[in-house]
Amino acid sequence: MIKTVETTPYQDQKMGTAGIRKKVKTIIQQNYLENFVQSLFDSIGGVQGKTFVLSGDGRYYNDIAIQKIIKMSAANGMKKLIIGQNGMLSTPASSRILLKNKADGGITLTASHNPGGENGDFGIKYATSNGGQCSAQISEKIYEKTKTITSFKTLDTPDIDLSKLGIQYLDHMEIEVIDPIKDYLLMMEEIFDFDAIKKLFQSGFTFVFDAMNAVTGPYGIKIFEEVLGAPKGSVHQAKPLPDFGGLHPDPNLVYAKHLVDLMYSDHAPDFAGANDGDGDRNMILGKKFFVSPSDSLAILTDNYRYIPAYKDGIYGVAKSAATSTAVCRVAEKLNIACYEVPTGWKNFCNLMDTNRITFCGEESFGTSSSHIREKDGIWAILFWLNIIAATGKSVEQITRDFWAKYGRTYYLRFDYDGIDSNVADALMHDLEENLPSFEGKIFEGCKVSRAHPFVYHDVVDGSSTKNGLLVYFEDGARICYRLSGTGTNGATLRVYIEAYDKHNFDLNPKDVLKKYLKIAALIAQIEQRTGKTEPDLTT
Ligand code: G1P
Ligand code: ZN
Repeated sequence: MIKTVETTPYQDQKMGTAGIRKKVKTIIQQNYLENFVQSLFDSIGGVQGKTFVLSGDGRYYNDIAIQKIIKMSAANGMKKLIIGQNGMLSTPASSRILLKNKADGGITLTASHNPGGENGDFGIKYATSNGGQCSAQISEKIYEKTKTITSFKTLDTPDIDLSKLGIQYLDHMEIEVIDPIKDYLLMMEEIFDFDAIKKLFQSGFTFVFDAMNAVTGPYGIKIFEEVLGAPKGSVHQAKPLPDFGGLHPDPNLVYAKHLVDLMYSDHAPDFAGANDGDGDRNMILGKKFFVSPSDSLAILTDNYRYIPAYKDGIYGVAKSAATSTAVCRVAEKLNIACYEVPTGWKNFCNLMDTNRITFCGEESFGTSSSHIREKDGIWAILFWLNIIAATGKSVEQITRDFWAKYGRTYYLRFDYDGIDSNVADALMHDLEENLPSFEGKIFEGCKVSRAHPFVYHDVVDGSSTKNGLLVYFEDGARICYRLSGTGTNGATLRVYIEAYDKHNFDLNPKDVLKKYLKIAALIAQIEQRTGKTEPDLTT
């Protein structure tokens, strides 16, 4: 029954910040997915006798890709696959299942927050036995293999029924189809004070969870409505759709505008949270109030004592270099370590594995803790609900109390999309060369104190990574530049800017950061090189 199929390699199967991510029309080319999966298997010494977790966010092609991978796994001698019902698991649930079952690896079929559907994106993330995405070194090995692959193994057999819970066999491989929510819910119940959150809902607290027509809809209904008692209908866009109903399932002020409009209207509930396509990102809103993700990480850290699982103390915290420094001020006050790592969740994992950190987060709407090795959208929402339940304060009040204590870090990310890759590479290259010449210079009345690339030395494995360029000002403001590693359409230049204010908390972030954006564009020659006079997206 095992077939060895001859194939020719593709040369573009490099993994980015979070796995391999491509347009659907690229992924569906003949043997494209098979080549990648066989290369993955081969570069980790095969999968003979191994157990993997396999699922996806339900986007277009999830159903076809999963059947291909099931057959290839059996043909390659995999011992067992654990699969969420109908082939779906959120990214955080997948990490949980992997860790709980001590599986050898995990494959998640997702392009995260990128649009889905036939004209959208598809992706594959590979996690190792620590529950987190593989290191850059492993990605590189897989990529090398994809460039020379000549054949892959599969089985000639009908598709597996993934709607049926329980155990079935394909050849010698066991397939266990599991309830996608059960174990995840149990873990959340162990972390948070569910009784307090139930009481909050009983008291009439109003709430919306927007699943953006993606994987966390059923999780939201189970956890928020059925278990915690939020009124029926509190979960919006709850049915996972292959094209996310045409939404760009990225929970931010631009792509979740419908939710933002609701929260700034007169019918706003007390709280709203949203997740992205695969359930690892989150957005937090109060009545007429938005919490920036960098602030959210800092606020959760400052309030860790209210959460049963963390009340006895936390290790350090970590943020990506692009994320604002708000959490560093909290860490200083709590007298815990604050690490700064390159963008991409995998960079937090060594710190969690060695108990150096408990919480971590990225400006791109990702927050989580060491309960798993991925970011976790529902965890972040439950954390906020738990703080609200414990303090009786609103989202706005909690945030304002935080600003009063630490000052406010105004922060925005500006994206310049669809730039020719050569132009983007040259811009970054030349900017890096010019950085030393900016030190001590004054632009728009602001003096540059330091300017250098961000270089990270992993304290655990000793590896070094360069990711982004940093420009610091004497007034505490900071610009960070980097190129996206998840795009599927040319290059995206991301410019992250923050400015610190100890006294004024009600300014408009766009106004505060305007002059720094001007400086950022000037010193990187953005207009001159890309023709763009302003960013395409501000979040
Ligand atoms: C983006 C975000 C990054 C996140 C990643 C995966 O990567 O910026 O924080 O970890 O998506 O969700 P980028 O496109 O910037 O490389
Ligand atoms: Zn995601």
